[in-house]
Amino acid sequence: MLDWSEPSASPRQAPPPFVAQSVTQADHAGLRTIDRSGGRVSVDDKRMINCRADVNQLLPLKYKWAWEKYLAGCNNHWMPTEVSMQADIALWKSRDGLTEDERRAIKRNLGFFAASESLVANNIVLAIYRHLTNPECRQYLLRQAFEEAVHTHTFQYIVESLGLDEGELFNMYREVPSITDKAAWALKHTQHLDDPDFKTGTPEADQTFLRDLVAFYVIFEGMWFYTGFAQILSLGRRNKMVGIAEQYQYILRDESIHLNFGIDVINQIKIENPHLWTKAFQDEVRAMVHEAAELEAAYGRDTMPRGFLGLNAALCESYMHFIANRRCAQLGLARVFEETENPFPWMSEAMDLKKEKNFFETRVIEYQNGRALSWE
Ligand SMILES: [Fe+2]
Ligand SMILES: [Fe+2]
Repeated sequence: MLDWSEPSASPRQAPPPFVAQSVTQADHAGLRTIDRSGGRVSVDDKRMINCRADVNQLLPLKYKWAWEKYLAGCNNHWMPTEVSMQADIALWKSRDGLTEDERRAIKRNLGFFAASESLVANNIVLAIYRHLTNPECRQYLLRQAFEEAVHTHTFQYIVESLGLDEGELFNMYREVPSITDKAAWALKHTQHLDDPDFKTGTPEADQTFLRDLVAFYVIFEGMWFYTGFAQILSLGRRNKMVGIAEQYQYILRDESIHLNFGIDVINQIKIENPHLWTKAFQDEVRAMVHEAAELEAAYGRDTMPRGFLGLNAALCESYMHFIANRRCAQLGLARVFEETENPFPWMSEAMDLKKEKNFFETRVIEYQNGRALSWE
């Protein structure tokens, strides 16, 4: 069983010596004219980036951790419309069921996620996929891209169910400065890769690609999403907005795999290209994590100026420090903040969906999509 909160124990093996020449001749996209005289791919030919072997041959598998995550993602299939929104609708429409502070936090949280899921999806499809030259990793990216579509669907479903102002919510990433700051910070990393002339193969370009992986997998999905989950799940623990909280639990389960996939990808690229993981670059990654935590703290103060039961900006900030240190450890880096206790220990319980009933006991879970097709 996979542990959603920790990076998977991934196979690591030293690669054959890196050969820089001829990578520019390789068909990284897998779309060029078929090489009729090319040999069959062996496991040793496969590489995360700058691969010179045919990227259209899934087998033989080299990175089994990527394939396992693809299977785990498929086993976790869910759709937002399967979650009842009745209790949420009643609470949202009631006059005194939620405080104004709670409403503000919920709306900003939804606004942050609504556009962020699209930003993450665009980065996968338009930036990462082109340059990650391994078929089993691409297989996972295809699954992840679909999951991001399901997550975006979730916010459409919430807006529709609660009768929220769709323009207000889906424009928050442009109109609410504390959200815009985070989106703009991440976008500047994907913009480099959006250049049609960008290609990996030089140390500078490969580090640019690594920066994008850090910005989206480690920071966007692995840090900022986690405080977002904590906010909504904290309300769910108090029996408020339990439908949204249940949806967030499913999103959290998906995102835990996305994060761990990203960590494994970065660590495997490090192993295969140790010349990229310089001291200066490590310092840069740590600075990125530090800056991202500060952006999140500003967002927390903006979202929860007064705080409410069980949740306030200071707690969210210390949770961010805890998460930031953890992400650094997962990448083999020294921590960036003082060692801090996890102020939300119940988050690890929220991540454990292997129970008879879910966290909020709204419905039986242990969700699998396993209804077999019948051809009769
Ligand atoms: Fe997502
Ligand atoms: Fe994701």
